[in-house]
Amino acid sequence: MSSCASFFCLFPFLIRLTFAYSLSPTSAPAQIPKYLNHFCPNTSITYSRNMTYFTNLKTLLSSLSSRNALYTTGFQTATVGQASDQVTGLFLCRGDVSQEVCRNCVAFSVNETLQRCPYKREAVLYYDECMLRYSHQNILSTVTYNGNFSMTLNGANISSTNQNDQVHQFRDSVWITLKEAAIDAANSSRKFCTKRKAIASKTLYLLVQCTPDLTTQDCLHCLQKSINGMFLYRTGGRFLYPSCNSRYELYSFYNEAANTTPPASISCRGKSRNTYVIVIVVVVPIIALFILSVAVFNFRAKKTRTTYEREPSTQERATITIAGSLQFDFKEIEAATNKFCETNKLGQGGFGEVYKGIFPSRVHVAVKRLSKTSGQGEREFANEVVVVAKLQHRNLVRLLGFCLERDERILVYEFVPNKSLDYFIFDPTMQNQLDWTRRYKIIGGIARGILYLHQDSRLTIIHRDLKASNILLDANMNPKIADFGMARIFGMDQTEANTRRVVGTYGYMSPEYAMYGQFSMKSDVYSFGVLVLEIISGKKNSNLYQMDTGPGNLVTYTWRLWSNGSSLELVDPSFHDKYRISEVSRCIHIALLCVQEEAEDRPTMSAVVQMLTTSSNALPVPQRPGFFFRSRLEQARLVDLSINTSALCSVDDGTMTPVTPR
Ligand SMILES: *[C@@H]1O[C@H](CO)[C@@H](O)[C@H](O)[C@H]1NC(C)=O
Ligand SMILES: *[C@@H]1O[C@H](CO)[C@@H](O)[C@H](O)[C@H]1NC(C)=O
Ligand SMILES: *[C@@H]1O[C@H](CO)[C@@H](O)[C@H](O)[C@H]1NC(C)=O
Ligand SMILES: *[C@@H]1O[C@H](CO)[C@@H](O)[C@H](O)[C@H]1NC(C)=O
Ligand SMILES: *[C@@H]1O[C@H](CO)[C@@H](O)[C@H](O)[C@H]1NC(C)=O
Ligand SMILES: *[C@@H]1O[C@H](CO)[C@@H](O)[C@H](O)[C@H]1NC(C)=O
Repeated sequence: MSSCASFFCLFPFLIRLTFAYSLSPTSAPAQIPKYLNHFCPNTSITYSRNMTYFTNLKTLLSSLSSRNALYTTGFQTATVGQASDQVTGLFLCRGDVSQEVCRNCVAFSVNETLQRCPYKREAVLYYDECMLRYSHQNILSTVTYNGNFSMTLNGANISSTNQNDQVHQFRDSVWITLKEAAIDAANSSRKFCTKRKAIASKTLYLLVQCTPDLTTQDCLHCLQKSINGMFLYRTGGRFLYPSCNSRYELYSFYNEAANTTPPASISCRGKSRNTYVIVIVVVVPIIALFILSVAVFNFRAKKTRTTYEREPSTQERATITIAGSLQFDFKEIEAATNKFCETNKLGQGGFGEVYKGIFPSRVHVAVKRLSKTSGQGEREFANEVVVVAKLQHRNLVRLLGFCLERDERILVYEFVPNKSLDYFIFDPTMQNQLDWTRRYKIIGGIARGILYLHQDSRLTIIHRDLKASNILLDANMNPKIADFGMARIFGMDQTEANTRRVVGTYGYMSPEYAMYGQFSMKSDVYSFGVLVLEIISGKKNSNLYQMDTGPGNLVTYTWRLWSNGSSLELVDPSFHDKYRISEVSRCIHIALLCVQEEAEDRPTMSAVVQMLTTSSNALPVPQRPGFFFRSRLEQARLVDLSINTSALCSVDDGTMTPVTPR
């Protein structure tokens, strides 16, 4: 099928070559361009045939379709006339079509526009191969969102052939790949990009393009809108604006060989000149040599073409780096969350409220509307979001983008369907949905996620607020850590080991962090230890546990059981003895190593992962655990410590309580 497509892609070149040397160019067989749609609003003032405007329009159209037009670059603009009679127009050919196809499409559309939009002062005509547009307004270098048009009719629903989970995954992959292509296109001089990607058992083909007169940022913005406007439930779709368009299909619909943009310009990674040449040789061995020479000729011709060059300026490049993390419009987010409707609210996180959002493309997201107290400037905020968005791991909730508008600071995350870990393990009716095997896997997943943050991401992110409600579960009950990188986004120094702002939740906080604001990777290790104990016992650390020595928390309770050699008493009764004693005791042992009082005694996360994966190695004996127990005395001390802070938040649930240490 792909070989077949490639052959037909080559066919026009073959004809071109033949005709170029034998006949005059005008007699080349003209294929009729595939008409898609047109837009000429009734509201725009009409003209009559005897007006100067009409004369100017005709001059404009003939100049656009003249033989000197820039079919090589596939984009040309023109302006004719003055003042109220001025008409501005342009054409844009799909980035992969040949000069001949482009020329033919423009000539055809110039003819058709007078029939489809008679006496209209402005018009947009969409064809598969090109777009023609003119207006009495200045349409150059400006983005237009009117005259848009969505095509989703041809594709079948993905869901009809697949399971639900796969559908979501597929749709999210399509969405993310489109957005990646948008960045590449916006950052390239031709403002064009195609991509091919294998997803599940299918191959996704996509194409995005802007008119090259747009700035990088305008182009990206336009493409994002067009991508978000697509209905990604289908096996294919398009969304066209006069300024840009996007398309995806599960079959090859563009000329893959044409994606080799001139060497100097930024090209987006497209495969395949080599592959298609090879395929051709196999399929049509007899004329292989001839075709090969055509291909080489064509490639050479492309190399020597003059192209529309508009290299992004340094400033633009800086901007794209920021915008590269995919900025959203406030309006878009407002629409997706139904104006932050109460019924869309998923919860209240440490840094703001979280809402469920659904884009027109049916992509589900979690939207976190930050409380407006971030100490960051806009640029720093955006830069940090970009950094955090680059962290990608299967056990981390993916940050997809952000919104910075008016006073709003919003983060957009992938939507994780199964709520958070605390919803399951602390609820007597839900507990049995997570048996030991599942919980064991969850422990391993969380450990790998933290390890990635600490070490593998090359960034050293300290989470600082690891807790059961920050562990989300996907459809297959895989854990995904949420809320990481918030310290960066909120402009708190990551490198300074002493902080004036303690962010965290009592019970999970290591003693040195809770008391003195000293944080390090080892404070995350402590929180992980507490989390493991909660997962095994199904009980909250903050509960009171009666012991012979007086009341304690889960950490001290476990320590006592361990010292008495009865640590298995900790195990959640909902397991009904269906668990491996060796696994559970090892996990308890590891957890106790993590919650040791002295930070340097605690293992690193990579050691933890190793302990969890290799059961043969003997573990060291844990030292006494450290804990921060909120007795009346300690609370009094906390208040004392925070006397000169202006922002003491609620001590109620213990979330987000800043402490100023002395
Ligand atoms: C625009 O005008 C044409 C002809 O006058 C009419 O047929 C068409 O319905 C109008 N369209 C709109 C959207 O008003
Ligand atoms: C142009 O045509 C309109 C009506 O079709 C007429 O009213 C007007 O007088 C004409 N103008 C000229 C300059 O011929
Ligand atoms: C445009 O229209 C003219 C007159 O109707 C016709 O002669 C010409 O062949 C058309 N050109 C194209 C490319 O369709
Ligand atoms: C599409 O265009 C119409 C006007 O033609 C406009 O009202 C609407 O907001 C546009 N939609 C999008 C998603 O840009
Ligand atoms: C495709 O999905 C949409 C939305 O879920 C639904 O309204 C439509 O009926 C479905 N179409 C087919 C052909 O299954
Ligand atoms: C855009 O292109 C420049 C130079 O080619 C590159 O350094 C930069 O990383 C690119 N930006 C993005 C967001 O891809």
